[in-house]
Amino acid sequence: MELGPPFGLQPFEVLFDKSEFNRVLPPGLLAFVGNLGFPPRPAGERPWVFANFVQSLDGLVSFGGRRHSGEWVARSRHDRWMMDLLRAHADALLCGARSLALETLSGSIPGGPVYRIVHPELLRYRQERLGRKKLIVILVTVSGNLRPADYRLFHSEHVEAWIATTPDGRARLGDPGKARVLVTGQGSVFDLGDLLRRLRSEHGIEYLLCEGGPTLYGHLVRGGWVDEKFITVAPQEIGPGIPPEQELTDWEKAGGTPIRPTSFAGTGFTIEEARWYRWVSCRKAGDHEFSRYRAASVGMPVLP
Ligand SMILES: NC(=O)c1ccc[n+]([C@@H]2O[C@H](COP(=O)([O-])OP(=O)(O)OC[C@H]3O[C@@H](n4cnc5c(N)ncnc54)[C@H](OP(=O)(O)O)[C@@H]3O)[C@@H](O)[C@H]2O)c1
Repeated sequence: MELGPPFGLQPFEVLFDKSEFNRVLPPGLLAFVGNLGFPPRPAGERPWVFANFVQSLDGLVSFGGRRHSGEWVARSRHDRWMMDLLRAHADALLCGARSLALETLSGSIPGGPVYRIVHPELLRYRQERLGRKKLIVILVTVSGNLRPADYRLFHSEHVEAWIATTPDGRARLGDPGKARVLVTGQGSVFDLGDLLRRLRSEHGIEYLLCEGGPTLYGHLVRGGWVDEKFITVAPQEIGPGIPPEQELTDWEKAGGTPIRPTSFAGTGFTIEEARWYRWVSCRKAGDHEFSRYRAASVGMPVLP
């Protein structure tokens, strides 16, 4: 059966795409999104790590308050579709515990997001053309302050939910139910590098998609473990301060940050150590921009 594009959406306009040739993309999807490929089986000890964020024109990834979810920033069916295409290419998806908690508090669906692939043609593409099994969703909580039973993610048949935590976090964690729990680090200190190595060597995960949030992503970038970043830019400016008329969550009222985040939280780099990327592709759908960047070097490149 032909794996066609989603009903009713105009094709992406491909401005350029210098990624690998994708020989398994069916003609219907190729016509809709253009060529979009990934490097063949990644070498090395860890998975190929690619991240995906949507941000406003002023670089912010969340409205905060009771409007945390990235979908409020995106407001785009093409972005939802692209998110599914990237999920289709991942063996597993990595996500921070605070994103799950905040998006559950502020989302429209009780019990929060499941991080599943919703478009049937992309689910079929994943299974039939890419030969991948059910998407594994790995939730990272360092503290273990998480009650899995409260979240739809841990009851869903559409994904396989895992939890990664520390030894102290494991002791604090509520009943994980059927979720696999990976323990790494010592005491209350999390070892993200060890987790990545074990995902590859013990669980065969070759392509790992990080969907944030900014704290988890910041740790990945500082560790030098991000190979690619996909960014959707939604053409709206939202500003960093949460306006007084917007309702806050209890977490924000109790001292959580009232500043809207960018995609990268925590300690940054000096000019000498800043990470540089190559711009691999750019698409357009309406006035939304879909760009892809691939890690190039550490430190300032020589100017042309
Ligand atoms: N627009 C987008 O594309 C997008 C995507 C994702 C998220 N977001 C937004 O980003 C915001 C949430 O991001 P966030 O930065 O606050 O949280 P986050 O990165 O989702 O989660 C942070 C939590 O993850 C755990 N964690 C993961 N790795 C860690 C590490 N190596 N070291 C220490 N802790 C680690 C900790 O959990 P414990 O506290 O349990 O120890 C920490 O509190 C929300 O507003 C969300 O909607 C936007």
